[in-house]
Amino acid sequence: MSTPPAQPAAGWWQEAVVYQVYIRSFADADGDGVGDLAGITSRLPYLRDLGVDALWITPFYRSPQKDHGYDVADYLDIDPLFGALDDADALLARAHEVGLRVIVDLVPNHTSDQHPWFQAALAAPPGSPERARYLFRDGRGPDGSEPPNNWGSIFGGPAWTRITEPDPSTGSGTRPGQWYLHLFDTSQPDLDWRNPEVGDMFEDVLRFWLDRGVDGFRIDVAHGLYKEATLRDQDQSELVDDPTGSMVERVLRDEPMWEQPEVHDVYRRWRRVLEEYGAAGSPDERIAVAEAWTRTAASMAEFVRSDELHQAFNFAWLTAEWSAPAFAEVVTGSIAALATAEAAPPTWVLSNHDVVRHPTRYGGGPVGLARARAATLVMLALPGSAYLYQGEELGLEQVDVPPEARQDPSWFRTGQPGRDGCRVPLPWAGTAPPYGFSPGDAQPWIPQPGDWATLTVAAQEDDEDSTLAFYRRALAARRTWVRGTDEACTAEAGGDVLVVRRGGVTVLLNAGERSVPMPAGEVLISSGPVGDRLPPDTAVWLRG
Ligand code: NOJ
Repeated sequence: MSTPPAQPAAGWWQEAVVYQVYIRSFADADGDGVGDLAGITSRLPYLRDLGVDALWITPFYRSPQKDHGYDVADYLDIDPLFGALDDADALLARAHEVGLRVIVDLVPNHTSDQHPWFQAALAAPPGSPERARYLFRDGRGPDGSEPPNNWGSIFGGPAWTRITEPDPSTGSGTRPGQWYLHLFDTSQPDLDWRNPEVGDMFEDVLRFWLDRGVDGFRIDVAHGLYKEATLRDQDQSELVDDPTGSMVERVLRDEPMWEQPEVHDVYRRWRRVLEEYGAAGSPDERIAVAEAWTRTAASMAEFVRSDELHQAFNFAWLTAEWSAPAFAEVVTGSIAALATAEAAPPTWVLSNHDVVRHPTRYGGGPVGLARARAATLVMLALPGSAYLYQGEELGLEQVDVPPEARQDPSWFRTGQPGRDGCRVPLPWAGTAPPYGFSPGDAQPWIPQPGDWATLTVAAQEDDEDSTLAFYRRALAARRTWVRGTDEACTAEAGGDVLVVRRGGVTVLLNAGERSVPMPAGEVLISSGPVGDRLPPDTAVWLRG
């Protein structure tokens, strides 16, 4: 157990910048081509110098890695691929020493099919207490050969898989048996949260990691734990495509598998547990942030009521098109929706390990990067917390991973490229793969492009024009000029220009195709070169 750093400000998380570490791809200390806990520990000074407040680490628990850690076989141990419990303790201690908080990933919607509970469920008969921890049902049709309902998996194909059971009529043979629900891969069976054993198990998991000193949890699929009790068919007449190009296909009108009201009782219980470990506003405060792809900003706000979770990812900007009116609406809409939820400022995020990296979403190449830097600079001025994804500070783009190297389960289920392209291991130094990601010549688990030599941390470190130098300046500017300002934040679009005002700072982003005159004022920071005019795809902070 280690102690978090002392911080004078109450509610350390409310305006924190959190850096997402995708553990497999951040830094590899043991030379097997996959990132690990010791690799993260060795790079903590880099994160401190970048200027972030906390890191969120994707799952490091024992796991067959079918969904790269989001398929957990033991919530209370570290997968040997990433190290051991001692490495987790060392990471926590060192992070706290250098002034960084640590948020770990909790995966409560489903386990791995290798979890002892699921193995016991397979070995037990239908109707047994072992089966009742998951969602096993008989199939439809005269011989039960049709899935119990019409739900689809997020990773493509049906959300149900049929198992084989011992055949009582022969005594030794097997026959097709019940079906189990998996909203993601077949290797990720959904738990039945209506069974009290499930809630009790996860309270033990929370306490285990809180006792070790973690500062918070990111809750995977936080909107999915409860399903409508009847498991009725979904009305699939209105499919909505995922604008991020990743994996989420939604039927927004009718979703009996998402956002059920009972889920909020889970988060009330967790809030009580978290508060046992640190009072609200104290430096010891422990927090939870929901990964909840909610239908509306209003339903997002329900997850962060003052007796529930502290934060919820706000994906609205990430899914918005490149346009000043769209951005203005996202900012005002998000702030307004959360204005009712006491003590829950908004969050902002542009990239993560599930979506196409934002320079590529914004068109790629120099224009995509300029837009990405501009959007980031606006995001960092907004009230609340900002989440950065590893590699965005280097300006990395989505990589076109060759088909033979793809590993995302959604690629295997749909034949679509999937998410590997945003998960390519980071380039730290050198002129050829592995670019210092692994010691020696070990090649990373996803191949890196051959043209990343100018994008390494070492190559950008001393270059004032680099994206890394820009992120460091922007994070410092946030601490100096806007953080902690409790004056209202407003946003509006004047033609193609987004104008955000917060405290004494005016933020402009030119989303149009022509430069516009620059208003009077001292330039505090800009995302690219500016003069008397503000060029397209550029943002600036002005004072006075
Ligand atoms: C959301 C995670 O971010 C994603 O990577 C994972 O595949 C799914 N949840 C399932 O756990």
